[in-house]
Amino acid sequence: MEMMAVEERMEEGMKEGVKVGGKIETPVIVLNEKAYTESVGEKGFELAEICEEVAVETGVNIAICPHQVELAMIASVVNIPCFAQHVDAVEPGSHTGFITLEAVKEAGAAGSLVNHSEHRLRIAEIDFIIKKAASLDLLMIVCTNNIAVSKAVAELKPYAIAVEPPELIGTGQGVSKVDPGIVENTVKEVKQVDEESIVLCGAGVTNGEDVRAAIELGADGVLLASGVVKAKDPRAVLLDLVSGL
Ligand code: G3P
Repeated sequence: MEMMAVEERMEEGMKEGVKVGGKIETPVIVLNEKAYTESVGEKGFELAEICEEVAVETGVNIAICPHQVELAMIASVVNIPCFAQHVDAVEPGSHTGFITLEAVKEAGAAGSLVNHSEHRLRIAEIDFIIKKAASLDLLMIVCTNNIAVSKAVAELKPYAIAVEPPELIGTGQGVSKVDPGIVENTVKEVKQVDEESIVLCGAGVTNGEDVRAAIELGADGVLLASGVVKAKDPRAVLLDLVSGL
């Protein structure tokens, strides 16, 4: 990565303005880059660029959750929605190593994932975060592990719920194919509580068939990670995923 190129793109990004608040169009593919080696530094930058290019080329909505350390940089150079992977339920102040919603907004993110199965929070913390995010015009995607938890979280009125059975994460066995019931019933239960809520599904999603199945089950999109991040050719995988919409 040429430093000048990054600086030029950052300037360009600043001119265009970062995307904060509002709504993300659906259906949407959300890529959680987690803490994989491929998400950091030059590789993370390239991955974000590929996502942006595929979004522009295909007209499909793709949002990314860059590595936390890269969030501000990536959000300033790509023109697709960027989300934090996690935020903490704290006000700005004396909290070492915590991530505030204010910092996420300042980084140019559209919002944040929260309560991922790899980074769970207590329900009171999720409630705090959803309320505070709304006041800051940030979109919260709350991860859940089953139908009952999804229904409970829907009562808190987050922007989106992403149901992910933890046992399928990283397996390459797409939830929409392996466990269609959890997707279909989460959609049904969540929309009964809050019609407006977006419902995503994730865990093991790797190809267009998984995406197609998710949409047919009523999901508004998918949340995935390893299928793209660890792929030899992330662009090809993204194009395949997009073909399922
Ligand atoms: O947040 C998405 C994630 O938990 C799913 O992971 O690797 O199964 O797509 P993966």
